[in-house]
Amino acid sequence: MQLTYYGHSCFGLSYQDEHILLDPFISPNELAKGIRIMDIPANYILLSHGHEDHIFDCEAIAKDKNSLVVANYEIISWLSNKGITYVHPMNIGGKKQLGAFTVKMVNAIHSSCLPDGSNGGNPSGFVISVAGKNIYYSGDTALHYDMKIIAELYKIDVAILSIGGNFTMDAEDAVVAAQWLNVKNVVAMHFDTFPYIAIQKQKAQEIFTNQGIGIQFMEIGSHITL
Ligand code: NI
Ligand code: MN
Repeated sequence: MQLTYYGHSCFGLSYQDEHILLDPFISPNELAKGIRIMDIPANYILLSHGHEDHIFDCEAIAKDKNSLVVANYEIISWLSNKGITYVHPMNIGGKKQLGAFTVKMVNAIHSSCLPDGSNGGNPSGFVISVAGKNIYYSGDTALHYDMKIIAELYKIDVAILSIGGNFTMDAEDAVVAAQWLNVKNVVAMHFDTFPYIAIQKQKAQEIFTNQGIGIQFMEIGSHITL
């Protein structure tokens, strides 16, 4: 299984010849200039919530790649009105098999309105299971106690956590999240894209190292094998 970082909160997760794309926000991201959205494989696009910095490139990629778009019911209704018809709505607590992947939509504490102010339902995260591994993708969220429930239900191998602060957890909260999730491998997201979420990576690194938890700041365009 391969995890590729496309900047901000956008990741690709590939297993054999199947590809999930999470929260595509690439073309407006100065830091992701080197990424061409049409080169990104995407059988499935998962959206954690309705904010523009998570859905901006969804329409273009979904239409080009004929990707199945998976999100909460409200976001799916909104996208359907834009002519995206290959869709699957779900809601928090629900589980869906997508090829080799099992995706569970889980709680997040945040907001979710769509770019035009439409109701974007509730924000979410995902637990993605494939090839005997479980990956937790927090979405934009505050630290919350449901992370303990996730750890009771799943042995999480890797947690992808928002750590930029201001709108979400910062590194101090994210390290507690990792402890509650009982995970030793964290991949950072939602940092440095905008001035509000600029972080000091070295400081964040220290906070994790002090607790014996590994954190990776992936280079945009790079991938790791899980
Ligand atoms: Ni957001
Ligand atoms: Mn965001």
